[in-house]
Amino acid sequence: MAATRNFNLDDTFYQNAESFFMANQKVGLTYDDITLATLYSEILPRDTQLDTQLADTLQLNIPVVSADMDTVTESRMAIAMALNGGLGLIHYNMPEKQQLSEVSRVKYHVQGLIQDPIKVSPDDLIGDVLERIEERKFGFSTFPVVSKENKLLGLLSGHVVKPRYASKKVAEALTPRDQVHSIRKKELGKDPIARADKFFTEHLGIHKLLVVDDNDHLLGLITMSDVERITQERKAQFKPARDAQFRLVCGAAVSATRNAFGELDRERILDHVGALLERGVDCVAVSTAHGHSKGVGDTVKVLRDAFPKLPIIAGNVTSGSGVEYLADCGANIIKIGQGPGSICTTRIVAGVGIPQMTALYICSRMAAKKKVSILADGGITKSGDIVKALTLAQGVICGGMLAGSAESPGDMVEIAGKMYKQYRGMGSLAAMKAGSAARYGHEKSDTTRKVAAEGIEALKESCGPVDRVLATLIGGIQSGMGYLGAKNLSELREKARYIRVSPAGQREAAPHDVVELKTGH
Ligand code: IMP
Repeated sequence: MAATRNFNLDDTFYQNAESFFMANQKVGLTYDDITLATLYSEILPRDTQLDTQLADTLQLNIPVVSADMDTVTESRMAIAMALNGGLGLIHYNMPEKQQLSEVSRVKYHVQGLIQDPIKVSPDDLIGDVLERIEERKFGFSTFPVVSKENKLLGLLSGHVVKPRYASKKVAEALTPRDQVHSIRKKELGKDPIARADKFFTEHLGIHKLLVVDDNDHLLGLITMSDVERITQERKAQFKPARDAQFRLVCGAAVSATRNAFGELDRERILDHVGALLERGVDCVAVSTAHGHSKGVGDTVKVLRDAFPKLPIIAGNVTSGSGVEYLADCGANIIKIGQGPGSICTTRIVAGVGIPQMTALYICSRMAAKKKVSILADGGITKSGDIVKALTLAQGVICGGMLAGSAESPGDMVEIAGKMYKQYRGMGSLAAMKAGSAARYGHEKSDTTRKVAAEGIEALKESCGPVDRVLATLIGGIQSGMGYLGAKNLSELREKARYIRVSPAGQREAAPHDVVELKTGH
């Protein structure tokens, strides 16, 4: 009897999402306004799974995405994010050509079986090859040499790809076919990495293995460093996020660009996204401050018509009708967040925006109906916020949490003996001048006259490599899941029970009444 009464009391106080948010309709709630109730658990934090399916062809092994901001994500951050199982969205405050190179750097970073390796022709000059390396930012300089029919002719080794040989033809410099190690694809068997690993052990000093068909056409390339990295990765709990060809995943932000007549620049957007796809981009993000708008919807529609299978992220919105609109236009993943960002002043400047947990609840219900996923974007300052966000969303986007790490763009600055990195809103005047004005509905030239910035320029204390930051965040997410007895993210969404926290409860939640010697992170 007593047990039944307690059980009922639990349910009355600690409510599921439906009951809780419906009972709190008159107030906008954010992360610190609520806490999650613990539940009976047989799940140890280390046994929890964090993989998340954002779209049919986009699966991550951890539900964390780095923000498409010019002080957060370029190729170094995107590589680190993908290696840790997440995703980086390369920002668009740079010339389109440079964004393509950034994507290439991620896609060519570490590969297992490289199915479409970069090849050279015997008639190319070494100088041409050097130019291509510079232009596409390849991190390697050894290339298979093939005929027009893709027949293997030899290998152009990195130690001859030097400016001093620029005027020589590849044909003169290559290591000939009979001296190049290769393997037929069918000999690779079911576990190509294990087979290649054995090959490299047996062939002292050989670091590249070319894969050919029965007629000696080139099918791929395996490098020893990739094999070693992948063998290591197989032992890690959270594997890197890779595409079907073993390349790291990478996303890129695109802007809803307008032409001189103020119309959507269809051609330019399509050309750019087409080029991104050629470089292997896995998803694009149409990133704006107001996603429930004609310009964003039209951009998404144009992209959806041209690229039926491309995962499209769009935003930002905070209403069910906003989610419905973008989903109907063709977006698969919707960014939720207006005004929560750590560098954001939208709520102060424009007086609009919704606290994150309420926005996520409303949007999550429409997202489920429309069969799209949502990302909680902005306002995350600790791993507990991520756990709360993941009770409603399929992933989170972090800006400030990652901006102080070694892999974010920009130099460190030293102030009074402490190291910092610059972090600025994409709606700050400086960032809008650098290109992001369209995101806030302004022209780039507008920034010279009076427009209201919706972001600030700031500093983040330097916090070491992203690996370390993510390890702390992931540890926190796994702890939260352990407390709720959730072995994966869909169980977390199902099981979550909420209660509001009083101001005194918020104070109680952080360290108090002690002299803090070491912070917890
Ligand atoms: P943070 O993780 O709290 O630092 O928030 C990052 C998020 O803030 C980004 O992913 C954007 O959605 C948003 N954001 C970026 N720049 C601005 C800005 O200048 N004003 C408002 N929001 C911004």
